[in-house]
Amino acid sequence: MARVEAYPGTENNPYLRFVYTSFQEHATAVSHGSTARLAKAHGDDVLTRTCGTIAADEKRHETAYGRIVEQLLRLDPDGGMLAIADMMHKRITMPAHLMHDGRDMNLFDHFAARLNVYTARDYADIVEFLVKRWKLETLESGLSGEGRRARDFVCGLAQRIRRAAERAEDRAKKDEQRKKKSTTCKTKLQCNSPEKALGPSAWSQLLATCCSENIKL
Ligand SMILES: [Fe+2]
Repeated sequence: MARVEAYPGTENNPYLRFVYTSFQEHATAVSHGSTARLAKAHGDDVLTRTCGTIAADEKRHETAYGRIVEQLLRLDPDGGMLAIADMMHKRITMPAHLMHDGRDMNLFDHFAARLNVYTARDYADIVEFLVKRWKLETLESGLSGEGRRARDFVCGLAQRIRRAAERAEDRAKKDEQRKKKSTTCKTKLQCNSPEKALGPSAWSQLLATCCSENIKL
């Protein structure tokens, strides 16, 4: 049975909670929008409409929470900035990330990334969107030294995530190519050179058995 935690990493702290929900509502809009596109491509009209309606709803929720964080940053720039950086350090985890079926502890990750419903690139886009929306790059007044460091960390985060995603994709491509190459080699060896495939000792034993039992190779 699936278990879900509503606001991972927010420690019952209202600052963290509003940062979390601003991000998470946007992420949910993205993932439902992607699911709607997939459903449309596969001809499921009911699922397309359902996911489209949910995605539009999530965008409205995101607008509301985002405005609250805007006000937090206006009234308490340092506290607001530190809360944003704190949540980004912890990484915003979707409630669905904690869903599991008793066998796969990364059920959402595996499905969402494989189907392109919600990926690391979407995560980077959302960070960038919020940085712009909350005008963090130009936030200066009311920030302590720690607040300025937090701002710089958050403003450079999207770029770092994209670079990490590119490296992970390159690694996955290389692994895939290596796997293909090794399968081709094994197949070739088995088809063209049984001696190499078996090794000289096993090959000579096989020949001896075939000779003694009059089997033609
Ligand atoms: Fe929502």
